[in-house]
Amino acid sequence: MHAFQEKILGNSDDPFGVASTGLTWLPKEQHFGITHENRLVAHAGLLRLPVVIGDAETEVVGVGGVAVAPGMQGQGLARLVVSAALEHARTMGPQHALLFCRPPLVALYQRLGWHPLDEDVRVEQPEGRLVTMPLRTMVTPLHDDARWPSGPVRLRSLPM
Ligand SMILES: CC(C)(COP(=O)(O)OP(=O)(O)OC[C@H]1O[C@@H](n2cnc3c(N)ncnc32)[C@H](O)[C@@H]1OP(=O)(O)O)[C@@H](O)C(=O)NCCC(=O)NCCS
Repeated sequence: MHAFQEKILGNSDDPFGVASTGLTWLPKEQHFGITHENRLVAHAGLLRLPVVIGDAETEVVGVGGVAVAPGMQGQGLARLVVSAALEHARTMGPQHALLFCRPPLVALYQRLGWHPLDEDVRVEQPEGRLVTMPLRTMVTPLHDDARWPSGPVRLRSLPM
């Protein structure tokens, strides 16, 4: 697991509750954090990912590694750190940000302005395998005129 998440959530085997998916994930490239009394207490990571939506080849900003320290949850820190990450994502070019989450977190991200995708989303895995993402996929526009294209979604990379 990445050092940032371990600092926040401790070194449990499955801090995000996604180990049962058996998926291989990409590390994030840009990291946003909140510190409290010299300790990292919240994190969100970003990277650009190539994606095919219908017949459109495009890119999205993938968001992942969202974590808030157990003693600091429920105080708006996820909202704050995800907003800071998205503010930067608006300067990166892609029209949308995309994340994967467990079903119980869909309502939380909806509260932050994200929308669940009804489409199945396929993602790459090692050895070029394509698998259907078992988690929920959520997207949010990064620009006022952004419209999510219709059609099947295929990430041309590992998920993040
Ligand atoms: C999930 C997690 C990141 C949330 O962090 P948090 O700091 O507690 O979240 P916030 O306090 O910023 O809450 C964000 C918003 O969602 C709302 N919310 C929280 N739980 C909710 C729920 N079950 N249903 C609907 N809304 C919910 C909050 O009220 C808040 O909305 P508001 O700002 O309008 O009041 C944190 O609990 C965590 O780190 N969990 C373990 C790791 C994990 O599962 N990460 C997710 C990987 S995708």
